[in-house]
Amino acid sequence: MRHLIDIMDLSVYEINELIDTALDIIEYPEKYCEVCRNMKLATLFYEPSTRTRLSFTAAMMELGGQVLGFAEPNSSSVSKGETVQDTVRVVENFADIIAMRHHTEGAPLEASKVANVPIINAGDGSHAHPTQSLTDLLTIKRELGRLDNLTIGFCGDLKFGRTVHSLIQAMSRYENIKVILIAPEELQLPERFKSKTPNLEMREVATMEEVMPELDVLYMTRVQQERFLDREEFERVKDSFVLTLKKLETAKPTMRILHPLPRVNEILPEVDSDPRAAYFRQVGNGKLIRMALIYRLLLWAKKNK
Ligand code: CP
Repeated sequence: MRHLIDIMDLSVYEINELIDTALDIIEYPEKYCEVCRNMKLATLFYEPSTRTRLSFTAAMMELGGQVLGFAEPNSSSVSKGETVQDTVRVVENFADIIAMRHHTEGAPLEASKVANVPIINAGDGSHAHPTQSLTDLLTIKRELGRLDNLTIGFCGDLKFGRTVHSLIQAMSRYENIKVILIAPEELQLPERFKSKTPNLEMREVATMEEVMPELDVLYMTRVQQERFLDREEFERVKDSFVLTLKKLETAKPTMRILHPLPRVNEILPEVDSDPRAAYFRQVGNGKLIRMALIYRLLLWAKKNK
């Protein structure tokens, strides 16, 4: 049974195949509108979500399938102490595929060990968010026309940001990728993620201004005050990680700004109307790539029956 727990579960060939399927869905949506008829997706969300859960829901609906699940674990038997593994053993009786978000790193992996239907990790703790990475890759492909020969700046919380961890690993599969890490001291990328991508050229800088002219993609994330032990330190550095139109003055006209969202104040609203701001277009790509993923995982599961 194929699951998607980590972006490295997919070969680069399979990632490209998913992107091609998403592009085909854009061009020929009518081909896909019944491919999941009589099938059900369960969305088991133990943590809050807007984009991921609703885009999975919309994706399955647009494939002709149906959706069930919970967005609030306290409304399910999780509140009585049911384990993730038992929950999955139950829900697989009602659904053909499961998307799960959990606050504990590794929970979707544990679920996949007992599941007889494909499990998709929709975000686990600070670990991984592989369907966000697929969304990001489709966005870069559609915005810039390529996934190689790119300089990508990751800005903000690189320590806890699971979208950053997954995307850096995904980019390590492509040619000539330079990664620039822009983060406060407290929120730098953990060694365990650096050591997973030895082929990537990586460097760390203190401000986005110093690298802005080099970037093809600026990947913004939230810097949360609660991550800092020292409030004064947060106050000192917080503006260095806020994107403004002024800071964009030296950026390439072709550069694209991505953000997994939600944002709080790390991109000022004045940036939204700049053509380089791709983060709301990125949300739409999330539904398309999840359509491609559900379709492919169900095909693979059928072949393996
Ligand atoms: N990008 C993302 O995971 O958003 P949600 O938390 O709203 O799903």
